[in-house]
Amino acid sequence: MIIAVDGPSGSGKSSTARGVATRLGLRFLDTGATYRAVTWSALERGLDLDDTAAVADRARELTLDISTDPTRQYVIADGVDVTAAIREPRISESVSKIATNLDVRAELIQRQRAIIDDAQPTGGIVVEGRDIATVVATDAELKVLLTADQEARLARRGAELAAGAVTAEQLRDQIVRRDADDATVSQFQVASDGAVTIDSTHLSLEEVIDVISRLAKEAEAAP
Ligand code: DC
Repeated sequence: MIIAVDGPSGSGKSSTARGVATRLGLRFLDTGATYRAVTWSALERGLDLDDTAAVADRARELTLDISTDPTRQYVIADGVDVTAAIREPRISESVSKIATNLDVRAELIQRQRAIIDDAQPTGGIVVEGRDIATVVATDAELKVLLTADQEARLARRGAELAAGAVTAEQLRDQIVRRDADDATVSQFQVASDGAVTIDSTHLSLEEVIDVISRLAKEAEAAP
């Protein structure tokens, strides 16, 4: 069983996909973490991110160990635990450059497919990203496109705002910029045959997990 969850940044797809995997006893793969890990490594080596060949070589050479346990997530890159480091703003700011490198994508998609294959004997996997239903796992039994309007995505990041880490204006700028950056990812295709679109703007996390879990059970029961 493969459940694909695609959507823009801040749509809540990561918490949702992890929640569905935990509820259904499936594995979980955050494909964005693979792009973030390559970004971390390229920056660590001081590579010019515009040098597409050097960055692609780095992606091919990088040893990556990504947890698929939805309750215990970690990312180890070349033996270094980068679980927290790949979430730093410096990575978020540069990752689009890595994700638009087609040679990097080819390499990481291959690795993502291997992780998905490995999970099949254990019952299946929930995979979240941007191109899962359209490119990585076109044979997914369930394809979900998770959306939320910009205001809702802003509200969900309210904790950062409350902590005083950013101003409302900075947060809005970040979200608008990430949307624009992601739209330049050539493989970013949200429309997919047979995908179910769920607008989470007015739904709680639990409600979205409920809907996807029910759809997954229906998909599993279907002949
Ligand atoms: O979901 P995220 O913010 O961790 O994603 C990080 C970056 O990787 C973002 O620029 C989108 C990109 N990405 C992608 O191009 N394809 C995926 N399957 C997952 C993420």
